[in-house]
Amino acid sequence: MFAERLKTRLKLHRQEGLYRKPPEILGREGKYLILAGGRVLNFASNDYLGLGVSDVLREKVADNFRKYGSSSSSSRLVSGNYALISEAEKAYARYFGYEDALFFPSGYQANLALLSTLFDSGTAIVFDKHIHASSVKGIALSPAELVGYNHGSLKHLKKRLEKVEKKEIVVLTESLFSMDGDLLDVPGLIDLKNRHGFLCVVDEAHAFGCLGEGGRGVARPVADIAVGTFGKALGLFGAFILLPALVKEYLFNFASPLIYSTTLPEAHAVSALDILGLLGESDDLRINLREISKFMKTRLTAEGFSAQGDAHILALEIGDEQRALDVSNHLREKGIFVLSARYPTVPLGKAILRIGMTALHDEADVNGFIQSLKEVIKYESGNS
Ligand SMILES: Cc1ncc(COP(=O)(O)O)c(C=O)c1O
Repeated sequence: MFAERLKTRLKLHRQEGLYRKPPEILGREGKYLILAGGRVLNFASNDYLGLGVSDVLREKVADNFRKYGSSSSSSRLVSGNYALISEAEKAYARYFGYEDALFFPSGYQANLALLSTLFDSGTAIVFDKHIHASSVKGIALSPAELVGYNHGSLKHLKKRLEKVEKKEIVVLTESLFSMDGDLLDVPGLIDLKNRHGFLCVVDEAHAFGCLGEGGRGVARPVADIAVGTFGKALGLFGAFILLPALVKEYLFNFASPLIYSTTLPEAHAVSALDILGLLGESDDLRINLREISKFMKTRLTAEGFSAQGDAHILALEIGDEQRALDVSNHLREKGIFVLSARYPTVPLGKAILRIGMTALHDEADVNGFIQSLKEVIKYESGNS
């Protein structure tokens, strides 16, 4: 019975074009991935600055693990509360301009811990409907009232805020949306905050490292709490929440995903400090990233493709789930690695190719991408 139920569900998933089986990666060489069929140019990476493949960071991280060992071997609340971790958290808080910070093994866990723990039934969480799955899961576990507003619409948010009656109100959004690639209207949100006085939580996972002065993101003027990840532009793994000291104290006492999970080791904290140094020196990479992302969008638009995105994440509209999968597979055969995002990552019938630009890409890479895309779409149209 059990196996039959799983098989039936998987079969249905396959028929709907929603089945997931990621290609196996054999290795990585800078902006290229090595697959069984050969080398492909990677447009599916969140390593926006290329730090994740840089020799400089690789050496530093290797040295840190050699020096400090491989594991913390316990939760922060048991014997894992190392001074080096707190020191690195303080440094992150200073760099990004918040009172304190708290590290987590992943961004998923950070959002889950923060959003499931902090609010009670007297709170209304008003959230952008396109927030990341980890935030959706976090708020679903909260006793707060949940009120969604249409993606990116501050007009709709305003209407929601005018109606909400709870004594505490939280607005939850991303600054650079992970799938749509569009940016939060920060001045607009500040205006609403001044009028309605809410607590603002912003996930800057895709902005930190890349956008703003020194890679400090874009939402500081409006955010009370921000979430960042090490696993994207920062080239490592794990995550951090930037927060008031009182919120950190509260999470230490009440956040189950923090209390009952082994913390990242000291070597991670020291590597995080090294990354902070690299971030301050990465203006050239940020400029490359901005320019090449603009070039990609301009070229796509000029060729008649519908591409959305305000920065280094571009969403190429495809629509049908199976077609998105086919286009991605055919591009891979031509040496281009870009994946489709399908339901439930994006709404049903609105599948996209999610293009992740990095500072390592150049104009020749973009031209190669466009040429292959044109050939694949022409082939696809001929066969549909
Ligand atoms: C907006 C956003 N928040 C959080 C996460 C989760 O971060 P992590 O991959 O570190 O779990 C992701 C990533 O995939 C994301 O896109």
